[in-house]
Amino acid sequence: MLYATSTESTDDREEEHSMNEAITTEAPIYELRRVTRSYGSGTTKVDAVRDIDLTIDRGEFIAVVGPSGSGKTTLLQLLGGLDRPTSGEVVFEGRSLATLKESELTQLRLGTIGFVFQQFNLILTLSAAQNIELALAPSGLTASLRRARVTELLGSVGLASRGHHLPSELSGGEQQRVAIGRALANAPDVLLADEPTGNLDSTTGDEIIAVLHQLNREQNQTIVVITHDPYVAAAAPRIVRLHDGAVVDADGSRVLEVVS
Ligand SMILES: Nc1ncnc2c1ncn2[C@@H]1O[C@H](COP(=O)(O)OP(=O)(O)O)[C@@H](O)[C@H]1O
Ligand SMILES: [Mg+2]
Repeated sequence: MLYATSTESTDDREEEHSMNEAITTEAPIYELRRVTRSYGSGTTKVDAVRDIDLTIDRGEFIAVVGPSGSGKTTLLQLLGGLDRPTSGEVVFEGRSLATLKESELTQLRLGTIGFVFQQFNLILTLSAAQNIELALAPSGLTASLRRARVTELLGSVGLASRGHHLPSELSGGEQQRVAIGRALANAPDVLLADEPTGNLDSTTGDEIIAVLHQLNREQNQTIVVITHDPYVAAAAPRIVRLHDGAVVDADGSRVLEVVS
């Protein structure tokens, strides 16, 4: 369901929450308030993301869908603190990302936010296990704890017996699983995936999405996955549709204007 920003829907959400103690106590992981990201100026100005209001709760699995150029990647980069809005505010875990220093943002990206991209970006000379272990370098864990964590991560992405293989010895789907394991290494609060199935055939893509669903279900991992694959989107409990940078309803009309 889309959380349109009207006073009414906010009230609804609070009511819904107060009926369910388990989730009431937790503030949303993300609150986006009238977020716009523009590129260029004058006649060439493009609002890649336009006036987006969006609340994401912990433990949600959200698919962001929309045609090419609709602002999906821009939105994900804003969520990941890789980019800053031109106007509006991205509040992550109660803190406005705009107020963070560059070093704090870097820390956030390393420890709190996991990224998965269309390209697997694995280091070709390292095994699957070593690729994941590398992400644990800043964690301060001892070597034996790091290994134990890698074993656990390989298991949770379904690669328990493949850890010693180089990327060249793995299928595309397996390589993407390694990339997911790496993204999860530091137990991020949110996993952001930009077209993670874009380089895979549809069967393998479905398997990757199944892994993400399983992580969400079994570990309550918050996940935002960008896709233009309607099948991938259809399986998501919540879909955010973008068109020309704005959040739209299923029929393509713009979601409610902000009441302020
Ligand atoms: N760095 C940039 N400079 C200028 N325009 C950009 C830049 N990044 C994205 N855009 C424009 O913003 C719009 C949204 O792009 P993007 O977020 O990549 O869409 P999507 O991921 O949905 O394909 C497009 O019109 C794109 O051309
Ligand atoms: Mg994109």
